[in-house]
Order: sequence, then structure tokens, then C-alpha cells
Amino acid sequence: MKQNFLINLYNDKSQTKIVAILIALLIGGASVFYTNYIVKKLAEHERQEIELYAKALEIITSTDSDNDEGVAINFITEQIIKKNDMIPAIVTDDHDNPISTASASSININFPSKATEDEKKEIMYEELEVMKSQHPPIEINLAGLQQRIFYRNSDVLFQLQYYPYVQLSVIGVFVWLTYLAFSSSRRAEQNRVWVGLAKETAHQLGTPISSLMAWIEYFKSDPQFSHNEAIPELEKDVHKLEMITARFSNIGSVPTLTEENLHDILDNIISYLQSRISSKVKLYLDSDSPNPAPAKINRHLFEWVIENLCKNAVDAMSGGSGEIIITLRNQSNKWVIDISDTGKGISKANLKKVFDAGFSTKKRGWGLGLTLAKRIIENYHQGKIFVKSSEPNKGTTFRILLNI
Ligand SMILES: Nc1ncnc2c1ncn2[C@@H]1O[C@H](COP(=O)(O)OP(=O)(O)OP(=O)(O)O)[C@@H](O)[C@H]1O
Ligand SMILES: [Mg+2]
Repeated sequence: MKQNFLINLYNDKSQTKIVAILIALLIGGASVFYTNYIVKKLAEHERQEIELYAKALEIITSTDSDNDEGVAINFITEQIIKKNDMIPAIVTDDHDNPISTASASSININFPSKATEDEKKEIMYEELEVMKSQHPPIEINLAGLQQRIFYRNSDVLFQLQYYPYVQLSVIGVFVWLTYLAFSSSRRAEQNRVWVGLAKETAHQLGTPISSLMAWIEYFKSDPQFSHNEAIPELEKDVHKLEMITARFSNIGSVPTLTEENLHDILDNIISYLQSRISSKVKLYLDSDSPNPAPAKINRHLFEWVIENLCKNAVDAMSGGSGEIIITLRNQSNKWVIDISDTGKGISKANLKKVFDAGFSTKKRGWGLGLTLAKRIIENYHQGKIFVKSSEPNKGTTFRILLNI
């Protein structure tokens, strides 16, 4: 199979994509991993802080405040208990009921300023549920009573846990948008090249064709040449050149779609092609829709598509004999046009690539016929074109769907 330069371009592009995605995953993974490490450290630190708080509570309740130890208690209250202003904790009895809503037996729980005692209790129980789901309690003994301290992660720890995911999502969305912007501008550029080249070709062909036509008219009017048998042949060739110009000029501009009769167009193109291909290949039209079969199409471009598909079908016979059947059907508000051949078929591996620009299995193929067909049907007619079925050594069917 011929590896066209265009195909290499496509392969390179998808490889770059894979490498970029791998690097992005690596960076994302490393950042999540590292943040998890910090989160773990911070969680350990918070546990230690709560244990210290538990110890402080035990010491306070087991000492008399009116002797010398009062200074120590003051220190503990100020430096340990009040210093912890981040980790919410609740002291409960051994049945997990909060001791009270007073500030002494819970820390860092925010009650709304106007909350009633009942509302405060409710908030405590809600908090307690969260705490239970996060960490096992710390058992303490306060003045002979068995009690527990429940606590939950500080808000900072909570934010840190989710921070990398938020950050990565934001970056991901940004990268995705940038990619879309770039690829759409690249596609716009490709379009401009296609369109510009086609327009220029049509434009350049215009002058010599008009000149040729003038010469033919001149010869026709001169009695010396008017009966020459070359003149009708010349006229045919000029007509063909005009057809090519019309195709290029239509693909190079926003083509006008007009109401046409599909049946007639297909009938015409079949008789036109039949006289130009090997006599071993027979072309048939099978149409169950009686005339007329109206569809909004651009005649020149549509004929180009059918011609490309039929040429491929002829090539698929590899010089042998065969049949090409074009079927026209009206199915659920769509025109279905099937082009079936009895050629060598398309291998499974190639099925996905046949519409790629530059993909060809032919010695002299550019691999542009189907790319062009797809562009004409999908971009210019809002239709669909795809390989309906293909079997090696049996044949291939291409299907075109057009809106009615
Ligand atoms: N009817 C078919 N039967 C078997 N293979 C097909 C058929 N139509 C297309 N193919 C395969 O798809 C490839 C691409 O077709 P396409 O028309 O795009 O390019 P091409 O015919 O090779 O070159 P060109 O640019 O001259 O048309 C062909 O080379 C061929 O391998
Ligand atoms: Mg082709």
C-alpha cells in the first residue's frame, strides 16, 4: 500500500496527541499524589492537636484552680485550648450525646447568632454525624466520667483535599477550550486553502475556455472548416472543460442549491459514464421513485461525487468485468442513494481510512476522491456518506443520505 505524505502527517498528529495526553496525566497524577501527601501530614498534625486538647481538658478538670496550679491552668487554657481555632470538636458522654451546647464542651462549631438552644443542639448532632464519619473519637476521663471527643477535619484540610481536583479541572477546561480554538482556526485555514485553490483554478480555466469557444464558433462559420469532423469532438472537450470549471467554481464558493430531479441526474450521469468506462463494466440505475424525485442539490458538485464513486467502483474491478448498480430510494424522509459494485472490496483495516485525505491503495491515486465526496455531501449538502458494506472479493456499497 502506498504511504502518502498526507497519511504520515495524520499519524504524526495522533502520536503527538497521545504524548501530550500522557504528559498531562503524569503532571495531574503527580500533583494529586503530592497534595495527598500533604493532606495526610496535616491530618496527622490535626489529630495530635486534638489529642493535646483532650489532655488539656483532663488536666483542667482534675486540678483545683485556686492554688498555685491556677497559673498552669491559665496557661493551658490560653495556649492550648484557645489556640486551636481551626479544628471543630465536640465532647460527648459515653453514649455519644453532646455534654452541652456551652462553649466549654465544643470548639469551633459555628452557631448562627440567633440560634435557639434547640437549633444549636440540632447543629451539634449534625456536626457529630460528620465527625463520626471522619475519625474515631478520643476517649477521655473527665473528673471520673468516661467521655469522648469527636472531631472533624478543619476547613483548610477539607479545601486542600479537593483543591488539586478543582485546579486540574479548571486547567483542563482551559486547555480544552484552547485546543478547540486552535483546531477550529486550523480547519478554517484548511478551508481557505481548499476554497482559494479551487476558485483560482476555475478562474484561470475561464480565459482559455472562452477563447476555445470563440475559435470553434469561428471554424463553424467558415465554410472551409464547418463540416470538419473534428469540430463536434472539440465541442465535447470544451463542454467537459466547462464542466470541470463549474465544479471548481462551485466548490470554491458557497454553492447554490437548487431543486433538481435526482432520478434524471443519475440517469444522465450513468449514460455519460457508461460511454467512458470499459465496456466490461455495466452501470445500472435502480430507482423505485417515479419521476420526479426532487432534491435540493448543487448539480455540478453532486455529479462530481457520483463520478468519483463510480470511478472508484470501476477501479475496484481491476480491469475485469463487473456491475455497478446505483439505487435510489425514498426512506423516512431521506433520499438514500446506494452505489454498489462487484469489485474487490475494502479490507477491514482500511475501512476507517478511506475518507482520509491522502489515503490511497492505488499506484496513481491521490486519495482525494472520497475526501472530496465527503466534503461535498456533508459540508455543502448537510447529508451523509459512508461505506454501507464491503466484503473482500464480493464488492462494496457506498451510501449517500440526502434530506428531502
Ligand atoms: N468501491 C471501492 N472498492 C474498493 N476500494 C475502494 C472503493 N472506493 C474506494 N476504495 C479505496 O479507498 C481508497 C481511497 O479512495 P479515493 O477515491 O479517496 O482515492 P483514490 O481513488 O485512491 O485516488 P483519487 O484521488 O484519484 O480518487 C482507494 O485507494 C481504495 O483503496
Ligand atoms: Mg478515487
